[in-house]
Amino acid sequence: MSECDSRGEQLEAADDEPVARATAPSLATLWQRRIGRRDLLSGFGKAALLATVSPAILSLAACDDTPQYTPDDIFGFEEVPHGIDETHHIAADHNAGILIRWGDPVLPGAPPFNVLEQSAASQLAQFGYNNDYIGFIPLPYGSNASDRGLLCIHHEYTNDDLMHAGMADADPREFYTRRIAEISMAAHGGTIVEVARDGNGNWQVVTESKYNRRITPLSTTMSISGPAAGHPRLQTSEDPTGHNVMGTFNNCAGGITPWGTWLMSEENFNFYFIGQPSDEAEAANHERMGFPAGRAYPWGAYHKRFDLAAEPREPNRYGWVVEVDPLDPASTPVKRTALGRFKHEGCENALTKDGRLVVYMGDDQQFEYLYKFVTAGMVDAGDRAANADLLDNGTLYVARFEEDGGRWLPLVHGQNGLDETNGFASQADVLIEARRAADILGATPLDRPEDVTPSPATGKIYVALTNSKERAPEQVDAVNPRAANLWGQIVEMEPEGGDHGAENFAWTLIVKCGDPRFPAIGAAWHPDTGENGWFTCPDNMEVDAKGRLWVATDQGSGWSASSGGADGLYALATQGEKRGLARRIFRAPIGAEVCGPCFTPDGTTLFLAVQHPGADGTKSFKGFERTSTFEDPATRWPDFDAAMPPRPSVLVITAKNGGPVGG
Ligand code: FEO
Ligand code: CA
Ligand code: CA
Repeated sequence: MSECDSRGEQLEAADDEPVARATAPSLATLWQRRIGRRDLLSGFGKAALLATVSPAILSLAACDDTPQYTPDDIFGFEEVPHGIDETHHIAADHNAGILIRWGDPVLPGAPPFNVLEQSAASQLAQFGYNNDYIGFIPLPYGSNASDRGLLCIHHEYTNDDLMHAGMADADPREFYTRRIAEISMAAHGGTIVEVARDGNGNWQVVTESKYNRRITPLSTTMSISGPAAGHPRLQTSEDPTGHNVMGTFNNCAGGITPWGTWLMSEENFNFYFIGQPSDEAEAANHERMGFPAGRAYPWGAYHKRFDLAAEPREPNRYGWVVEVDPLDPASTPVKRTALGRFKHEGCENALTKDGRLVVYMGDDQQFEYLYKFVTAGMVDAGDRAANADLLDNGTLYVARFEEDGGRWLPLVHGQNGLDETNGFASQADVLIEARRAADILGATPLDRPEDVTPSPATGKIYVALTNSKERAPEQVDAVNPRAANLWGQIVEMEPEGGDHGAENFAWTLIVKCGDPRFPAIGAAWHPDTGENGWFTCPDNMEVDAKGRLWVATDQGSGWSASSGGADGLYALATQGEKRGLARRIFRAPIGAEVCGPCFTPDGTTLFLAVQHPGADGTKSFKGFERTSTFEDPATRWPDFDAAMPPRPSVLVITAKNGGPVGG
């Protein structure tokens, strides 16, 4: 990371840095050495592909009796070319319009956006910054409506130097006043906003909706539940009970439960704490989570709970999954500690065969792990209220990938070394230090697990491993097959017996990302993938009504070395003869990542988030080649108004023929 990088670029790059393990992952390392290296999908021709697929994979394919796509089903759109410029591009047979931008009114009576007169109070009523995950809950609740619903949207972080005039040239110690810090806090968290098609069929924000809500680390009181609630390690001077916490932040991918609640992840929470940790008892825990981060948002100058020296246990109150009920605007969000504490990416979920809920979760950092949580109780499809505390009881598992399959390992106190001998006095300790517990179990360190998406169409699970620049040649293994991996790969998992509750799974790599024209990269795609279809750094994913996998990419500031072009959204065939064939439908403007692809139930609308436009890697943007600032941004997307900086925005994508997005 360069000292000249913007704060936003630094935060993006943070995922790239592995953190020290207080407990050496000795079992994991031994395991990885034992399984050795397997090159699953080398070569680009179909013959080469078949020749290198393991017998286990071929038998999987032979058993695949799910529907097969025709090429038109997969690729019913005109492909967007590779490239990079100041604006977005959508397939010619589709439309992409702006639905809502940073600063647009959300709450009834919110002031119009004035970029030069920002305040925390106005931001608390307006759309936040850096939109990431998008969830859709049809209205009325319980319907399959595709013309009205609630959007639940994460605001992951702020690019303060692109938000405020004068910041780029100022001394941050003088510029970062309480006002700036609290605008940043108010722009984090989430937004619930009602949207509906108007008489012309165009999607509009319903600004007077009773459901509209902002959830932030400045304004939203939350409760803490589950096995770690009330534990002394969660108690602070502001909350001696360990049961209440103010807000959530750095929320990345997420999920919607079958009972219509919203699961908000908490990802890179270590970047919000200043000071040196003052509690020796938490030293190993803090080190394992990347504290002190060294370049934190200076919220702690004004809110002491973000100062590690004053409140060394405050970090234990972040890194969880928060459950929010968007249908009750007065409800108190709940941090569900049973789902473990780590840098959460994504909470997509599925049902076991006997009706329990399984939540799949990545821990997005180099050499971190893949988790799932399985509830003890069954989902009650007919009674919303009966599911209110379902996420407080169940089992958290971490994944170990083996040569010919894999296993989910339970993180249960008292089992397999998760006891006093390793510093775990209770299940609360296991959950607070889930990473350290997973080290001891021998979980497989992965190339930055981002979104994890079960396919309702097939029961298979897709895991985006986005990249891992630090993986050394001796650390390569079957599921992480490339050292210095700038490109990423997508894992396909199949639970044993087709049951998400099973402890065993089969797996394969459906694609190894990168430019297939350069053999040294070692990419693997279906051979029909064209020059615009391949991608790098898969991040958020979604399955549409037809069962197609859609992949949004985030190359961060390294886009020029990774793909040489902008991030985008791609359709990827997962079944039939075209399996592994990708095609691009959308391209982002310079400096942006693409997040949160979200379809209406009928598939005719795709909501898509464009995050941090004009921020990442602008020194590599030919003709610009400098750091982007408020006064001199690499793009002013989407307004292209000389008085307005770039604004993170949610788009509405529809097909011109009114049919399903993607054809
Ligand atoms: Fe916030 Fe892992 O991307
Ligand atoms: Ca992400
Ligand atoms: Ca990301």
